[in-house]
Amino acid sequence: MPNRIVVLTGAGLSAESGLGTFRDKNGIWTRHRIEDVATPEAFARDPDRVHAFYNERRAQAAGARPNPAHEALARLQERHPGAVTIVTQNVDALHERAGATALHMHGELARSTCAACGHRWTAPETMHPRDPCPACAAQATRPDVVWFGEMPHHMDEIERHLLSCDLFAAIGTSGNVYPAAGFVQEAARAGARTVEINLEPTDVSGLFDDHLAGPASKVVPEWVESVLDAG
Ligand code: APR
Repeated sequence: MPNRIVVLTGAGLSAESGLGTFRDKNGIWTRHRIEDVATPEAFARDPDRVHAFYNERRAQAAGARPNPAHEALARLQERHPGAVTIVTQNVDALHERAGATALHMHGELARSTCAACGHRWTAPETMHPRDPCPACAAQATRPDVVWFGEMPHHMDEIERHLLSCDLFAAIGTSGNVYPAAGFVQEAARAGARTVEINLEPTDVSGLFDDHLAGPASKVVPEWVESVLDAG
């Protein structure tokens, strides 16, 4: 059993739970422009449109269930407390609903934040720009999601885990968005073995030692069992 594992997850992990990916055919970014719904400029220009986009995704995420891949990763964490760090690009709560903990580097649909004072709280199902902040009463309420051009969360903690892990797995992510797409190189530099689990090759497949192809709900439980069997 490796001593310290870092697992990076992306939208492909939640695809079989019915939540959309971004860059597959019919992906979210084929139906919405990033510039219209996922940048600070978009929010300043048309907060109602941005809230409508995230309200729709929050409602979908609220109705989704973890799939066997989420459950397998929770099992891995449970069997090796403190040794398995999940870093997710996903803003759904399916890792948590499966019983795992995860560092949400792109934020969480289930959280709101105030653009004026930075206060964070549990998001209502539907958010509006005029909702007053519970802390400062400013009408500057936004989804607690990291937009393009903003700094991802937990980067210092993630770096520490990458530099001390001996196994790094990237599951269901296209390797299109940095800094997450570069994590494999940081882990490899630290001496970790690296594995990519995906339906198909990605732009960063060449950076991984091993590849497991197939749907996450099938391949991830098999991979977790192989890691646990390694003793
Ligand atoms: N099992 C495994 N992999 C899958 C499955 C599945 N069932 N379905 C899709 N995939 C893979 C696709 O092959 C693709 O490589 O998941 C990946 C999804 O890629 P993206 O849609 O680009 O999602 P992701 O990599 O998570 O995007 C990263 O970009 O837009 C931003 O903030 C957003 O967090 C997101 C980030």
